[in-house]
Amino acid sequence: MISASPLAEPVVAPAKDQWYACPVCKQNLEPLHDGLSCRVCARAWPIMSGIPDFLPVNLRESRNRSLRVVGNWDSRPMFDFMASVYETWIYPAVCNLYGGWRSTSLQQLVHDISEIVGSRDGVILDVACGPGTYGRRMASASRTVIGVDICMSMMQRGARYVERAHIPNVHFARAQVEALPFQAGLFDAAICAGSLNHFSDVVLALREINRTMKADAPLAVMCFALINSGLIKYKSIRDKAEKGGGHIYSVVDFARCVVEAGFEEFRPHTYGSILVFSARKKTGGELAGRKGDPHLVVEKLSPIAWLFGTTLVTGLLMAFAGKSLQVPLAFIHKILALVCLFLLIRAVGRPGAIHEPPAFPAAIAVFAAAFLASFATGVMESIPACAGALWLNLHRVASAVAAVACAVAVRFIVLAALP
Ligand SMILES: C[S@@+](CC[C@H](N)C(=O)[O-])C[C@H]1O[C@@H](n2cnc3c(N)ncnc32)[C@H](O)[C@@H]1O
Ligand SMILES: [Zn+2]
Repeated sequence: MISASPLAEPVVAPAKDQWYACPVCKQNLEPLHDGLSCRVCARAWPIMSGIPDFLPVNLRESRNRSLRVVGNWDSRPMFDFMASVYETWIYPAVCNLYGGWRSTSLQQLVHDISEIVGSRDGVILDVACGPGTYGRRMASASRTVIGVDICMSMMQRGARYVERAHIPNVHFARAQVEALPFQAGLFDAAICAGSLNHFSDVVLALREINRTMKADAPLAVMCFALINSGLIKYKSIRDKAEKGGGHIYSVVDFARCVVEAGFEEFRPHTYGSILVFSARKKTGGELAGRKGDPHLVVEKLSPIAWLFGTTLVTGLLMAFAGKSLQVPLAFIHKILALVCLFLLIRAVGRPGAIHEPPAFPAAIAVFAAAFLASFATGVMESIPACAGALWLNLHRVASAVAAVACAVAVRFIVLAALP
């Protein structure tokens, strides 16, 4: 196992309000009275009992069985009970059954994971943190831990432990590993314990974790592997995990996933079928991780490029349609504007897309006003008695504003439509 070397320079942790980014478009968020909002894709993320909720989808509708179970049972008394006995009863049983009788313990595993992180300070990501089993035990005055999980009951339990024990610098957020609410390169280390086997696409999950880490930062994982000892050697146990949407891989397969996701220096250690491994984010891994991601392409385009692109494309389309259909350009312009407005309004109704963000309705209002103004001034200008420079100029200005609003609308629609 690798043990991370101490950093030469002290780490300056970013301020709390700079941690979170939109999980969908990864842009900065702005505070709302009861949450955070993304201006770019016009979504709002509520904060519930101090825990921001960044789930972009309803877990109950997920195709993954484990996610559906969490969605259906989260916050019910049964789940709350499980969270209350998780570390005292469930963890020791798991260690003995999967690792082999008395082969390891929660204390030992926390020690292993802490050793991989080493003496790094700064901000650490605890992926699928549960009640912050590991993160709570690793936080300190100079080391902040942000735990993310899809299960509120677990994190609320963790928040209570943190409060009771006065542990500094532990924070929780509800999010899926596949869409982490952080900008690229934020974390000085990442840990992921007991959860990798639950993720439906291990490489995708690791790639998203990789994206949020600094180059060279260590990754510490505890998971279950196909090894001829411990409970995992029984096919029925593996089948159950696969049925739930998870995966049990061999150590070699995990090594392949880790490399494919942009890490290097994979170092495994096993206790029965419990696998603890370390890896390090490859320099330049962040680019490999998001290569071909359509969100990145859209995000990278500057507003000027959007405006220019959409104006050019719609202009060419209109000219082509006007020529081949023999209809006035103004008529096609209005039809296009109406279609765009219709799409924009439809996008608001997308499940989970929006709660009360200010940017989206504002964009619609500007778009509708510009379109109406362009229409009205166009009509006035075409009446012979009114035809004159004033109406013509007003019409030009209104059309220009409509074009800008159209570009904004297209960007919203494209971002909302991307997976
Ligand atoms: C066995 S618990 C491990 C919790 C904690 N890391 C530990 O070791 O005690 C697995 C956790 O993974 C979370 N989880 C499962 N799928 C997830 C996903 N796609 N994104 C984020 N969390 C997920 C579950 O809610 C659950 O809390
Ligand atoms: Zn966004």
